[in-house]
Amino acid sequence: MIDSHRREINYLRVSITDRCNLRCEYCMPKEGVSVLGHEDILRYEEILRVVKASMKIGIVKVRVTGGEPLIRRGVVEFIRELCSLGLKDAGLTTNGILLEDFAGPLFNAGLRRINISLDSLDPEKYGKITRGGDISRVIRGIRTAHDAGFFPIKINFVVLKGFNEDEILPFVRLTLDKPFQVRFIELMPVGRNARLNEARYLSNDSVMDTISREYTMHPLDARGAADGPAYLFKIDGAAGEIGFIHSGSGHICERCNRLRLTADGHLRACLLREGETDIKSALRAGCSDAELEKMIRTAIDRKPAGRPCIEKKPSIKKCGKEMSAIGG
Ligand code: 5AD
Ligand code: SF4
Repeated sequence: MIDSHRREINYLRVSITDRCNLRCEYCMPKEGVSVLGHEDILRYEEILRVVKASMKIGIVKVRVTGGEPLIRRGVVEFIRELCSLGLKDAGLTTNGILLEDFAGPLFNAGLRRINISLDSLDPEKYGKITRGGDISRVIRGIRTAHDAGFFPIKINFVVLKGFNEDEILPFVRLTLDKPFQVRFIELMPVGRNARLNEARYLSNDSVMDTISREYTMHPLDARGAADGPAYLFKIDGAAGEIGFIHSGSGHICERCNRLRLTADGHLRACLLREGETDIKSALRAGCSDAELEKMIRTAIDRKPAGRPCIEKKPSIKKCGKEMSAIGG
Protein backbone atom coordinates (compact mmCIF):
# COMPACT_ATOMS: atom_id res chain seq x y z
CA MET A 1 0.00 0.00 0.00
CA ILE A 2 1.21 3.50 -0.88
CA ASP A 3 0.67 6.14 1.83
CA SER A 4 -0.46 9.70 1.29
CA HIS A 5 3.16 10.82 0.83
CA ARG A 6 3.83 8.21 -1.88
CA ARG A 7 5.84 5.85 0.32
CA GLU A 8 5.29 2.15 -0.06
CA ILE A 9 4.41 0.73 3.34
CA ASN A 10 5.56 -2.87 3.40
CA TYR A 11 7.08 -3.33 6.84
CA LEU A 12 5.35 -3.98 10.16
CA ARG A 13 7.18 -3.88 13.49
CA VAL A 14 5.45 -5.82 16.22
CA SER A 15 6.23 -5.27 19.89
CA ILE A 16 5.16 -8.39 21.79
CA THR A 17 5.98 -7.08 25.26
CA ASP A 18 6.94 -3.78 26.86
CA ARG A 19 8.93 -5.60 29.53
CA CYS A 20 12.67 -5.97 29.43
CA ASN A 21 15.39 -7.76 31.37
CA LEU A 22 17.64 -4.70 30.97
CA ARG A 23 17.20 -1.02 31.81
CA CYS A 24 19.22 0.85 29.20
CA GLU A 25 19.81 4.40 30.37
CA TYR A 26 18.48 6.02 27.22
CA CYS A 27 15.46 3.77 27.01
CA MET A 28 14.09 3.21 30.49
CA PRO A 29 14.18 4.96 33.82
CA LYS A 30 16.13 3.20 36.61
CA GLU A 31 13.04 1.79 38.24
CA GLY A 32 11.69 0.50 34.93
CA VAL A 33 8.40 1.56 33.44
CA SER A 34 4.98 0.66 34.71
CA VAL A 35 4.40 -2.52 32.82
CA LEU A 36 1.21 -3.47 31.09
CA GLY A 37 -1.01 -6.14 32.61
CA HIS A 38 -1.59 -9.52 31.01
CA GLU A 39 -4.94 -8.52 29.52
CA ASP A 40 -3.53 -5.29 28.09
CA ILE A 41 -1.13 -7.18 25.88
CA LEU A 42 -2.28 -8.60 22.57
CA ARG A 43 -2.50 -12.38 22.57
CA TYR A 44 -0.35 -14.16 20.00
CA GLU A 45 -3.37 -15.22 17.96
CA GLU A 46 -4.53 -11.60 17.88
CA ILE A 47 -1.12 -10.47 16.65
CA LEU A 48 -1.12 -13.14 13.94
CA ARG A 49 -4.52 -11.98 12.80
CA VAL A 50 -3.26 -8.42 12.44
CA VAL A 51 -0.21 -9.67 10.55
CA LYS A 52 -2.37 -11.68 8.13
CA ALA A 53 -4.63 -8.69 7.49
CA SER A 54 -1.55 -6.48 6.97
CA MET A 55 -0.17 -8.94 4.43
CA LYS A 56 -3.34 -8.53 2.39
CA ILE A 57 -2.59 -4.85 1.98
CA GLY A 58 1.07 -5.16 1.15
CA ILE A 59 3.10 -5.89 4.28
CA VAL A 60 5.84 -8.34 3.29
CA LYS A 61 8.25 -7.89 6.16
CA VAL A 62 7.65 -8.22 9.91
CA ARG A 63 10.05 -7.61 12.76
CA VAL A 64 9.29 -8.81 16.27
CA THR A 65 10.53 -6.48 19.02
CA GLY A 66 9.89 -5.61 22.66
CA GLY A 67 10.89 -4.53 25.30
CA GLU A 68 12.78 -7.74 25.09
CA PRO A 69 10.78 -10.23 23.02
CA LEU A 70 12.59 -13.33 24.28
CA ILE A 71 11.20 -12.90 27.79
CA ARG A 72 7.62 -13.46 26.65
CA ARG A 73 6.44 -17.01 27.24
CA GLY A 74 5.68 -18.97 24.07
CA VAL A 75 7.78 -16.76 21.82
CA VAL A 76 9.33 -19.68 19.89
CA GLU A 77 5.92 -21.13 18.97
CA PHE A 78 4.73 -17.65 18.00
CA ILE A 79 7.76 -17.20 15.74
CA ARG A 80 7.11 -20.61 14.18
CA GLU A 81 3.57 -19.55 13.27
CA LEU A 82 4.73 -16.16 12.05
CA CYS A 83 7.36 -17.78 9.82
CA SER A 84 4.75 -20.08 8.30
CA LEU A 85 2.59 -17.20 7.02
CA GLY A 86 4.61 -16.73 3.82
CA LEU A 87 6.20 -13.35 4.58
CA LYS A 88 9.18 -12.33 2.49
CA ASP A 89 11.07 -11.48 5.68
CA ALA A 90 10.56 -12.19 9.34
CA GLY A 91 13.09 -10.84 11.83
CA LEU A 92 13.60 -10.37 15.54
CA THR A 93 15.33 -7.64 17.52
CA THR A 94 16.76 -8.71 20.86
CA ASN A 95 19.22 -7.49 23.44
CA GLY A 96 20.90 -10.90 23.18
CA ILE A 97 20.89 -11.68 26.90
CA LEU A 98 18.86 -14.88 26.37
CA LEU A 99 20.04 -15.59 22.85
CA GLU A 100 22.44 -18.40 23.68
CA ASP A 101 19.48 -20.54 24.75
CA PHE A 102 17.03 -19.29 22.14
CA ALA A 103 19.12 -19.16 18.95
CA GLY A 104 18.80 -22.89 18.14
CA PRO A 105 15.05 -23.15 18.81
CA LEU A 106 14.35 -19.90 16.93
CA PHE A 107 16.34 -21.08 13.94
CA ASN A 108 14.46 -24.40 13.97
CA ALA A 109 11.21 -22.42 14.10
CA GLY A 110 12.17 -20.87 10.76
CA LEU A 111 13.68 -17.53 11.80
CA ARG A 112 16.79 -16.41 9.89
CA ARG A 113 17.15 -12.67 10.49
CA ILE A 114 18.21 -11.29 13.84
CA ASN A 115 19.20 -7.85 15.16
CA ILE A 116 21.09 -7.54 18.41
CA SER A 117 21.38 -4.33 20.40
CA LEU A 118 24.91 -3.79 21.68
CA ASP A 119 26.18 -0.36 22.66
CA SER A 120 29.61 -1.22 24.03
CA LEU A 121 32.18 -4.01 23.84
CA ASP A 122 33.58 -3.14 27.24
CA PRO A 123 32.04 -5.25 30.03
CA GLU A 124 31.99 -2.37 32.51
CA LYS A 125 30.53 0.15 30.12
CA TYR A 126 27.99 -2.38 28.91
CA GLY A 127 27.00 -3.00 32.51
CA LYS A 128 26.63 0.73 33.06
CA ILE A 129 24.56 1.61 30.00
CA THR A 130 22.25 -1.40 30.48
CA ARG A 131 22.22 -0.96 34.28
CA GLY A 132 23.53 -4.38 35.10
CA GLY A 133 23.66 -6.36 31.87
CA ASP A 134 26.31 -9.08 31.49
CA ILE A 135 28.01 -8.66 28.13
CA SER A 136 29.47 -12.17 28.12
CA ARG A 137 25.96 -13.53 27.67
CA VAL A 138 25.39 -11.30 24.65
CA ILE A 139 28.71 -12.30 23.07
CA ARG A 140 27.87 -15.98 23.59
CA GLY A 141 24.42 -15.32 22.16
CA ILE A 142 25.84 -13.70 19.01
CA ARG A 143 28.29 -16.58 18.57
CA THR A 144 25.52 -19.16 19.00
CA ALA A 145 23.30 -17.33 16.50
CA HIS A 146 26.16 -17.18 14.01
CA ASP A 147 26.93 -20.91 14.44
CA ALA A 148 23.23 -21.77 14.15
CA GLY A 149 23.22 -20.19 10.69
CA PHE A 150 21.38 -16.90 11.24
CA PHE A 151 21.86 -14.46 8.40
CA PRO A 152 21.91 -11.56 8.37
CA ILE A 153 23.07 -10.81 11.90
CA LYS A 154 22.78 -7.07 12.49
CA ILE A 155 24.30 -5.35 15.47
CA ASN A 156 22.57 -2.15 16.55
CA PHE A 157 24.90 0.39 18.11
CA VAL A 158 23.25 3.54 19.47
CA VAL A 159 25.90 6.27 19.44
CA LEU A 160 26.07 8.22 22.70
CA LYS A 161 28.22 11.32 22.95
CA GLY A 162 30.85 11.05 25.66
CA PHE A 163 30.02 7.44 26.30
CA ASN A 164 30.77 5.14 23.40
CA GLU A 165 32.05 7.36 20.62
CA ASP A 166 35.51 5.91 21.28
CA GLU A 167 34.13 2.51 20.27
CA ILE A 168 33.04 3.50 16.77
CA LEU A 169 36.18 2.01 15.18
CA PRO A 170 36.17 -1.19 17.26
CA PHE A 171 32.57 -1.76 16.11
CA VAL A 172 33.56 -1.10 12.49
CA ARG A 173 36.31 -3.69 12.91
CA LEU A 174 33.72 -6.31 13.88
CA THR A 175 32.67 -6.28 10.23
CA LEU A 176 36.15 -6.94 8.85
CA ASP A 177 36.23 -10.70 9.29
CA LYS A 178 32.63 -11.55 10.28
CA PRO A 179 29.60 -11.15 8.02
CA PHE A 180 27.85 -8.88 10.52
CA GLN A 181 26.08 -5.67 9.65
CA VAL A 182 26.95 -3.08 12.29
CA ARG A 183 24.41 -0.26 12.30
CA PHE A 184 25.11 3.14 13.80
CA ILE A 185 21.86 4.52 15.14
CA GLU A 186 21.35 8.13 16.08
CA LEU A 187 19.79 8.62 19.47
CA MET A 188 16.16 9.70 19.34
CA PRO A 189 14.35 11.95 21.80
CA VAL A 190 11.64 9.52 22.83
CA GLY A 191 9.74 8.99 26.06
CA ARG A 192 10.69 10.46 29.41
CA ASN A 193 14.39 10.39 28.52
CA ALA A 194 13.82 12.79 25.64
CA ARG A 195 15.73 15.70 27.20
CA LEU A 196 18.60 13.59 28.48
CA ASN A 197 18.93 11.98 25.07
CA GLU A 198 19.21 15.34 23.37
CA ALA A 199 22.37 16.04 25.37
CA ARG A 200 23.91 12.71 24.34
CA TYR A 201 23.05 12.99 20.68
CA LEU A 202 25.88 12.62 18.17
CA SER A 203 25.13 12.85 14.47
CA ASN A 204 25.97 10.11 12.01
CA ASP A 205 27.85 12.70 9.97
CA SER A 206 30.41 12.90 12.72
CA VAL A 207 30.45 9.09 13.05
CA MET A 208 31.14 8.84 9.33
CA ASP A 209 33.97 11.37 9.66
CA THR A 210 35.56 9.28 12.39
CA ILE A 211 35.36 6.14 10.24
CA SER A 212 36.55 7.85 7.06
CA ARG A 213 39.71 9.03 8.76
CA GLU A 214 40.70 5.37 9.21
CA TYR A 215 38.95 3.42 6.46
CA THR A 216 37.58 3.80 2.94
CA MET A 217 33.86 3.06 2.88
CA HIS A 218 32.06 2.08 -0.29
CA PRO A 219 28.34 2.66 -0.56
CA LEU A 220 26.23 -0.40 -1.31
CA ASP A 221 23.33 0.56 -3.45
CA ALA A 222 22.03 -2.93 -4.13
CA ARG A 223 19.25 -2.54 -1.62
CA GLY A 224 15.98 -4.39 -1.69
CA ALA A 225 12.78 -2.36 -1.74
CA ALA A 226 11.94 -3.47 1.80
CA ASP A 227 15.34 -2.53 3.20
CA GLY A 228 14.15 0.53 5.04
CA PRO A 229 16.06 3.54 6.20
CA ALA A 230 19.61 2.23 6.70
CA TYR A 231 22.32 3.60 4.42
CA LEU A 232 24.77 0.77 3.81
CA PHE A 233 28.52 0.78 3.27
CA LYS A 234 31.33 -1.70 3.21
CA ILE A 235 34.99 -1.36 4.11
CA ASP A 236 37.31 -2.64 1.36
CA GLY A 237 37.68 -6.40 1.71
CA ALA A 238 35.40 -6.67 4.75
CA ALA A 239 33.14 -9.68 5.28
CA GLY A 240 30.35 -7.57 6.74
CA GLU A 241 28.73 -4.19 6.23
CA ILE A 242 28.14 -0.98 8.12
CA GLY A 243 24.86 0.85 8.15
CA PHE A 244 23.78 4.31 9.24
CA ILE A 245 20.33 5.04 10.52
CA HIS A 246 19.77 8.78 10.64
CA SER A 247 16.99 8.48 13.14
CA GLY A 248 17.87 11.56 15.14
CA SER A 249 18.37 13.97 12.28
CA GLY A 250 15.17 12.94 10.55
CA HIS A 251 16.58 12.09 7.13
CA ILE A 252 14.86 8.75 7.35
CA CYS A 253 11.28 9.94 7.11
CA GLU A 254 11.14 10.11 3.33
CA ARG A 255 12.22 6.47 3.18
CA CYS A 256 10.01 5.33 6.02
CA ASN A 257 8.27 2.14 4.95
CA ARG A 258 6.89 1.04 8.26
CA LEU A 259 3.95 0.69 10.53
CA ARG A 260 4.13 -0.37 14.18
CA LEU A 261 1.95 -2.56 16.34
CA THR A 262 2.49 -1.69 19.99
CA ALA A 263 2.48 -4.25 22.79
CA ASP A 264 -0.90 -2.95 23.94
CA GLY A 265 -2.48 -3.47 20.55
CA HIS A 266 -2.36 -0.07 18.89
CA LEU A 267 -1.20 0.66 15.37
CA ARG A 268 1.23 3.51 15.36
CA ALA A 269 1.94 5.25 12.09
CA CYS A 270 4.98 7.21 13.27
CA LEU A 271 7.44 6.51 16.05
CA LEU A 272 7.64 10.15 17.02
CA ARG A 273 4.05 11.21 16.69
CA GLU A 274 1.22 10.37 19.02
CA GLY A 275 -1.94 9.25 17.33
CA GLU A 276 -2.59 5.54 17.35
CA THR A 277 -5.33 3.29 16.12
CA ASP A 278 -6.79 1.06 18.82
CA ILE A 279 -6.80 -2.32 17.10
CA LYS A 280 -7.13 -4.33 20.30
CA SER A 281 -10.58 -2.97 21.18
CA ALA A 282 -11.79 -3.66 17.65
CA LEU A 283 -10.39 -7.19 17.72
CA ARG A 284 -11.99 -7.91 21.07
CA ALA A 285 -15.31 -6.43 19.93
CA GLY A 286 -15.30 -9.04 17.16
CA CYS A 287 -14.45 -6.94 14.11
CA SER A 288 -14.45 -8.61 10.68
CA ASP A 289 -11.34 -9.12 8.56
CA ALA A 290 -12.57 -6.41 6.20
CA GLU A 291 -12.95 -3.97 9.10
CA LEU A 292 -9.50 -4.86 10.35
CA GLU A 293 -7.96 -4.21 6.93
CA LYS A 294 -9.77 -0.89 6.74
CA MET A 295 -8.37 0.16 10.12
CA ILE A 296 -4.86 -0.71 8.97
CA ARG A 297 -5.33 1.32 5.79
CA THR A 298 -6.57 4.28 7.83
CA ALA A 299 -3.57 4.04 10.15
CA ILE A 300 -1.23 4.09 7.14
CA ASP A 301 -3.04 7.11 5.73
CA ARG A 302 -2.27 8.93 8.96
CA LYS A 303 1.47 8.65 8.49
CA PRO A 304 2.97 12.14 8.57
CA ALA A 305 5.39 13.35 5.91
CA GLY A 306 8.36 13.77 8.19
CA ARG A 307 9.99 14.35 11.55
CA PRO A 308 7.07 15.80 13.44
CA CYS A 309 8.72 15.78 16.86
CA ILE A 310 12.20 16.81 15.87
CA GLU A 311 11.10 19.72 13.71
CA LYS A 312 8.71 21.24 16.20
CA LYS A 313 10.55 21.35 19.50
CA PRO A 314 7.50 22.36 21.56
CA SER A 315 5.83 19.09 20.65
CA ILE A 316 8.71 17.05 22.00
CA LYS A 317 6.95 16.41 25.26
CA LYS A 318 4.11 14.84 23.34
CA CYS A 319 6.36 12.00 22.23
CA GLY A 320 5.46 10.47 25.52
CA LYS A 321 5.21 6.77 24.90
CA GLU A 322 8.28 4.81 25.89
CA MET A 323 10.43 3.11 23.28
CA SER A 324 10.02 -0.14 25.18
CA ALA A 325 6.28 -0.10 24.53
CA ILE A 326 6.60 0.88 20.90
CA GLY A 327 9.41 -1.48 20.02
CA GLY A 328 11.98 0.82 18.45
N1 5AD B 1 17.13 6.25 20.22
C1 5AD B 1 17.68 5.42 19.30
N2 5AD B 1 17.61 4.07 19.39
C2 5AD B 1 16.98 3.56 20.45
N3 5AD B 1 16.75 2.28 20.79
C3 5AD B 1 16.04 2.27 21.94
N4 5AD B 1 15.80 3.54 22.37
C4 5AD B 1 16.39 4.36 21.45
C5 5AD B 1 16.49 5.76 21.29
N5 5AD B 1 15.95 6.62 22.18
C6 5AD B 1 17.25 1.16 20.00
C7 5AD B 1 17.70 -0.02 20.77
C8 5AD B 1 17.52 -1.15 19.78
C9 5AD B 1 16.54 -0.63 18.77
C10 5AD B 1 15.32 -1.46 18.65
O1 5AD B 1 16.21 0.69 19.17
O2 5AD B 1 19.03 0.05 21.18
O3 5AD B 1 18.72 -1.50 19.15
FE1 SF4 C 1 15.56 -3.22 26.98
FE2 SF4 C 1 16.18 -2.55 24.44
FE3 SF4 C 1 15.24 -0.70 26.12
FE4 SF4 C 1 17.68 -1.68 26.50
S1 SF4 C 1 16.99 -0.50 24.71
S2 SF4 C 1 16.10 -1.36 28.11
S3 SF4 C 1 17.45 -3.77 25.88
S4 SF4 C 1 14.12 -2.47 25.41
